[in-house]
Amino acid sequence: RHHVLTLADFTKAEYNIVLQTAASFQEVLSRRTKKVPSLQGQVVANLFFEASTRTRSSFELAAKRLSADTLNFASATSSITKGETILDTAKTYLAMGTDIMVIRHREAGVPQAIAAEMDRLGVRVSVLNAGDGQHEHPSQALLDLFTICSLIDPENPRLQLLKNKKIAIVGDILHSRVARSNIWSLTASGAQVHLAAPPTLLPQLFADYVKDEEVGEDERGRGGEGERGKIPNSESNIQNRNLFIHWQLEPALKDADFVMTLRLQKERMTGHLLPSLREYHQMFGITRTKLQLCQPSVKVLHPGPVNRGVEISSDLMDDPEFSLIPAQVTSGVAVRMALLYLIGSGKS
Ligand code: CP
Repeated sequence: RHHVLTLADFTKAEYNIVLQTAASFQEVLSRRTKKVPSLQGQVVANLFFEASTRTRSSFELAAKRLSADTLNFASATSSITKGETILDTAKTYLAMGTDIMVIRHREAGVPQAIAAEMDRLGVRVSVLNAGDGQHEHPSQALLDLFTICSLIDPENPRLQLLKNKKIAIVGDILHSRVARSNIWSLTASGAQVHLAAPPTLLPQLFADYVKDEEVGEDERGRGGEGERGKIPNSESNIQNRNLFIHWQLEPALKDADFVMTLRLQKERMTGHLLPSLREYHQMFGITRTKLQLCQPSVKVLHPGPVNRGVEISSDLMDDPEFSLIPAQVTSGVAVRMALLYLIGSGKS
C-alpha cells in the first residue's frame, strides 16, 4: 500500500500487520533509547490545515522515533494566508524532498486530491490521511483498534480478538470521521457494532433506515431498538456488516464490552443543536450509572478532544478503572510509527 487514505479497502491481513508492527514499536518505546533508525534520511511533513493536538504531535513524535526528519506546517501561519493553493503547498513540500505527507483538512477529499496529484506527477510520495472533514480518520481508528486488542492480549494484539465483542459507538455520528473509520475496522473484525445517536446526529442514510423500523417498548420499558441495518449498497457499501443502529442509548449499551463516545462537533453544526447540550447529556452522555447496563468489565474510549460533562461525565473520563482515553493517546505513537514504517520503509 502506497497511501493510507481510508480503511474502506483495508484487508484483515493489513489490519493484523499494523497491529503486530505497532506492538513491536510499543516494545521499542518501553526501552530507554526509544528510537530506531528505520526512516533515517526520510522527510515526514505534517501538513495540518485544521487544528490538532493529538494527531499532529503523535505523528511528529512517531517520525522522530523512527529517525526521520520532520516538517510541521500549520495553515494559519503559512503562505495559505497569502493565497497559495493546497496543491501548490504540497508541491512546495515535495520540492524539499518530502517522502511522506501527513494531511489533515476540514474538507473531505483533500488528502485524496493530494495523493492523486503526487501519483499524476509520478513521484514516490506517500500520503497519510490524518482526518479529512466528516469522511475518515484512519490512524485514529487503527489506534482505537490497537488499544482494545492490546487490552485483551497485550502480547499478540490481533483483529480476531474482537469477534462477537459488543462495541457501542455513541454520539455525533453525523460529523464523525472517527466513527466512519471505526465502522470499517470494527465491523471487519467481526465485532457487533452498535451506533447510538439522536436522529439529528445520524447520517440521513442511517436515520432513514431507522425510521422504517418499529421502535417499541421492551420488557423493561426503556424503549426498543431498530433491527440490524440493511444499508443500501450503492450509498455506503457496508451492507451485511455487523452494524446495528439505534435512536436510544440503552439497547446499544446493554451488555457492551466497549463504549466509544464521540465529541459533539459544534464547529461543524450550522443550526441549533437538537437536543440541547443539557438534554444530550441526559440522553446520550456516558456516566457511571448508564455503564451499569454494560458488561462489568466495560471500558470507555473517546478520541478526544473531550467536552467534559457533555458526551462523558468528567469523573468517568478520569477513572482509570473504566477510561482508556490516556491509553488511546499512548497507543497513537506506536500505531503511527507502524504506519510510517510500513509505507516508508520501502522508499530509501
Ligand atoms: N483525535 C484527534 O484527532 O485529536 P486531535 O484533533 O487533537 O488530533
